Amino acid sequence: MSIYWEEFYSTHAAPADFGDNKARMEEFTARHLAKMGKIALITSGGTTVPLEHNTVRFVDNFSAGTRGSASAEYFLQEDYAVIFLYRFKSLEPFVRHFMGQKFLDLLEITKNEGASSIQVKTNVTEEVLPILQQYQAVKKSQQLLCVGFTSLADYLWLLRAACELLTPFKTRALLYLAAAVSDFYIPSHQMPTHKMQSDSGPPTISLQLVPKMLKPLVSLWVPEAFVVSFKLETDETILISKARGALEKYNHKMVIANILQTRKQKVVVVTSNTVTELLLTPEEIQSDLEIEEKIVKFVTKSHAVFCSP
Ligand code: PMT
Repeated sequence: MSIYWEEFYSTHAAPADFGDNKARMEEFTARHLAKMGKIALITSGGTTVPLEHNTVRFVDNFSAGTRGSASAEYFLQEDYAVIFLYRFKSLEPFVRHFMGQKFLDLLEITKNEGASSIQVKTNVTEEVLPILQQYQAVKKSQQLLCVGFTSLADYLWLLRAACELLTPFKTRALLYLAAAVSDFYIPSHQMPTHKMQSDSGPPTISLQLVPKMLKPLVSLWVPEAFVVSFKLETDETILISKARGALEKYNHKMVIANILQTRKQKVVVVTSNTVTELLLTPEEIQSDLEIEEKIVKFVTKSHAVFCSP
């Protein structure tokens, strides 16, 4: 039988920084394995699909990494060690709260005897302090490892390596696959080396299907882990049936189904025998509660039941 996902790895070289990132994940997992705690691999953000080997142009998707980066903070609060596999330049835990201009707007310059210093404005201290405290505690305890990817191939190489390192954690490993992974790509041997030239006329680009990595992930790479996948649709009428279909096909534990436009207020958690809607009330939205807090509570409770003897 041809193992179609192996074909992807044999025809797409590992990224240049793969060895370094694998070594960082090895060090992190070895340290946490000895502690006997739980560990989560969170994937976050979108993957790019390059159109040229020397990539000038690529196909991308909408994902900002909000789901993954917010969830990482809540898993850390639940005492999980977290490997955060994220798309470079998408949102990261903690810093996500102060992106762009907002960061500079938090600061003020004070002068004392001609010397300038910078401090956080008094009126935002209450907002910054708890996040800074959580960030520093996580840094001190070395509970979080962030590993970045850009392209689909980068992501798939890192995903497999991370899974293999999680195998010894057995049921204590949880996979939370929130990244928006491309379903279509141009195989390496069909890609031009150099930038496509417009004077050659409009290109005809033929995309092929990316192998669904959930299959080997669940059955071979981390067979004992608690695997949670996500299902994104834009048509509400097919959402639950697609989620059920994924569970039947891949035989993992849970699918978190969401609709593009409402994903920040509502998700549906589908298991082999339950369908549970999680949503934010208007009051909760008003008080800045994040749906990821509810999702992570639900998932970690289910994982605890799964782990209990
Ligand atoms: O980042 P945000 O802006 O906050 O958005 C969050 C989100 C909408 C991206 C997230 O909540 C979400 O739904 N992520 C999964 C989106 C997606 O890729 O859905 P899918 O139906 O294409 O894939 C379903 C599952 O198959 C995914 O868990 C994916 O990891 C997996 N997959 C996908 C492609 C592939 N080649 N192999 C896979 O195994």
